[in-house]
Amino acid sequence: MCTLEMPTATQDFAGTLLHTYNQAALTLMISVGHQAGLFDQMGTMPPATSVEIAAATGLQERYVREWLGAMVTGEIIDYTPETGQYHLPASRAAFLMRSSGSDNLAVFAQYIPVLATVENDILNCFKNGGGVPYAKYSRFHEVMAEDSGQSVLSSLIDQILPLAPGLTASLEKGIEVMDVGCGSGRALNLLAKTFPKSRFTGYDLCLEPLEVARAEAHKAGLTNVTFQQRDLTHFAPDQPFDLITAFDAIHDQARPDQVLAMIYQSLKQDGTFLMQDIDGSSHLHNNLHHPLGTFLYTVSCMHCMTVSLAQDGMALGTMWGTEKAEQLLKEAGFKHMSVKRLPHDAQNCYYIVKKEITYPKVYGI
Ligand SMILES: C[S@@+](CC[C@H](N)C(=O)[O-])C[C@H]1O[C@@H](n2cnc3c(N)ncnc32)[C@H](O)[C@@H]1O
Repeated sequence: MCTLEMPTATQDFAGTLLHTYNQAALTLMISVGHQAGLFDQMGTMPPATSVEIAAATGLQERYVREWLGAMVTGEIIDYTPETGQYHLPASRAAFLMRSSGSDNLAVFAQYIPVLATVENDILNCFKNGGGVPYAKYSRFHEVMAEDSGQSVLSSLIDQILPLAPGLTASLEKGIEVMDVGCGSGRALNLLAKTFPKSRFTGYDLCLEPLEVARAEAHKAGLTNVTFQQRDLTHFAPDQPFDLITAFDAIHDQARPDQVLAMIYQSLKQDGTFLMQDIDGSSHLHNNLHHPLGTFLYTVSCMHCMTVSLAQDGMALGTMWGTEKAEQLLKEAGFKHMSVKRLPHDAQNCYYIVKKEITYPKVYGI
């Protein structure tokens, strides 16, 4: 490539592309480092050689050294050539270690390799239509459980539930709760543990995450939670619920409209529907400066949209947006909804939805 003769704008764009590829490669290596426990170990170590890091992690030195090369050139890990030592500074370790809880951004890097496992299937869909089913993805449910472990679990009791006035008190007294698209059931198991007088039922299409959910409930000795395999596209539960939750589980349904109608029918008149879903606009032009725009449209094309199409669904996609969400909630019959945001969760917003408009009680009238 003869960059000298290129106009500046072209050179800039070529540079931008190369930078993008470097960052994409780095994302893959962050995923590897997270899974291999390298960040967790290095975050607790003083400067060390690749031999010492390999010994501390029980990993193969040759692989560790090459991974360190990517981390050093990617400016995540510092390197001192004179001593051959590598160091992960605390200020960066704080966003890469499991012990950092909801600040651990390394978890999200895993989505890129997960999505890449179906690249050929997606290409086939570009040509021939159709979709890619959940079963084709390697590690999707596992990574999703880690993701919601951070965005939901860390704040469920202290921040998310209080978004709906009176909800915590009702859960303490004892109510019936359904979780739609519960996945590996981490949210429901935490609720069941925290509110022993309430009863919880989680439904999901896929058996694999349900088995994880049941095992966790069994291990914790929980008797007030059950997990059942159901396709929620055509489903009518045989009992009403006081609270229905959906954590990141409406937009990628086959028929979000039918699921929302089922939720409306299944909710008691004064019940609450708590829906966490992706924060964005239904209109591309409003998402031009979305901090995760490219990431979320990619996740949509490579997962959320296509798993819906695999079920002959509506394919709303990850970026269905708040406008479409509110439209579908209204069409399902809901009359009152408020949309809230939490500082720790830049990716999602929280819809507190009621069947009827509720007014605060005015005492003495
Ligand atoms: C993005 S995941 C969210 C899982 C979980 N709520 C969490 O936060 O970890 C969406 C879930 O919806 C489930 N799902 C998708 N289509 C479904 C359907 N037709 N019926 C029931 N569950 C479905 C998937 O199996 C998946 O576990």
